Amino acid sequence: MAVISDSNVSLLHAAPLARALAVPGDDCFTVPAGEASKSRAEWGRLTDAMLARGFGRDSVVIAVGGGVVGDLAGFVAATYMRGVPLVQVPTSLLAMIDAAIGGKTGVDTAAGKNLVGAFHQPLLVVVDPEALRTLPAAHLRNGLAEALKHAVITGRAEFDWFVANAAAMVRSSGPDAAIIAELVERNVAIKASVVARDERENGIRKSLNFGHTIGHAIETVAGFSILHGECVAIGMRVEAMIAQALGLAGTSLVPELEQALCALQLPLRPTAAMRADDVLAATRSDKKARAGTVEYALVREIGAVAGSEHSYGTRVADDVVLAALANALNA
Ligand SMILES: NC(=O)c1ccc[n+]([C@@H]2O[C@H](COP(=O)([O-])OP(=O)(O)OC[C@H]3O[C@@H](n4cnc5c(N)ncnc54)[C@H](O)[C@@H]3O)[C@@H](O)[C@H]2O)c1
Ligand SMILES: [Zn+2]
Repeated sequence: MAVISDSNVSLLHAAPLARALAVPGDDCFTVPAGEASKSRAEWGRLTDAMLARGFGRDSVVIAVGGGVVGDLAGFVAATYMRGVPLVQVPTSLLAMIDAAIGGKTGVDTAAGKNLVGAFHQPLLVVVDPEALRTLPAAHLRNGLAEALKHAVITGRAEFDWFVANAAAMVRSSGPDAAIIAELVERNVAIKASVVARDERENGIRKSLNFGHTIGHAIETVAGFSILHGECVAIGMRVEAMIAQALGLAGTSLVPELEQALCALQLPLRPTAAMRADDVLAATRSDKKARAGTVEYALVREIGAVAGSEHSYGTRVADDVVLAALANALNA
């Protein structure tokens, strides 16, 4: 067994797990914490180190960490000796409810994020919400943005539960552990059910991109200085405004989203000024736009994603996007 983690998680969570499984220290590999480790260079170092330790076809890779470790170690497992079993032990909220579920693994390249990778379903995903006790608050909120996205695309009951419990998730004395545990359980179920219906993202899985076309563009324009979840928070609001401008959504979606974002202490807009045309231009460099068209997973109302007849992607005219951006970035 090879245990892979990062420099923040290694002592906190990977070492105790390795001890419990009697994995020797030399079979535990640690990469520097942060997105920069999701690289071919780290993939090369890890696979070389495993080869040097004599890992064979019968080995198992155990990924202990956030989404960075999960994606990187997952890609190691997908490729090592043409593929060995993978166990995901996610330790960030985002990894528990999103990255560890669904089988997407990979690394970033200079041309963009996640551009080299493979589908490799984990043999097992072990989620212990107790691990979140050591997660910094900003990273908890980062995961809460994706949980809000899940609630919006799932339905009214899910959304109402989420909003009713939002304050307990971000209270200053620390999150309510029971609420967080229930949140994790609900969101694992949501992500798993979407992926089970459409593993290769030809249809319903695209609805998970709600907030992400604009979110990724904002992330790019900000030079990755704003957390992904915060960009998705801003992106969901802009995309709700787009849906309203197109007449797909009524007038209640935007204020409902704003209320939920505020309850989670997530931003409505970037703190630094950002030009609408820069964000629009960045939507075109998104990997999902490579074919030349940019598609949005727009929401008609809580629980209803638009465009089921054309696999949940809606094309939007530039002037509509620019108007929503101008509106959202300034007000
Ligand atoms: N494969 C997928 O389907 C999928 C889906 C969504 C996101 N992702 C990827 O996930 C990555 C983001 O994941 P992330 O937000 O978890 O980032 P991350 O892995 O960088 O973790 C965030 C930070 O929290 C630290 N950390 C994690 N767990 C901790 C804990 N329990 N205690 C203390 N510190 C802890 C990490 O060291 C890191 O500093 C991105 O690369 C993104 O592309 C993949
Ligand atoms: Zn996301």
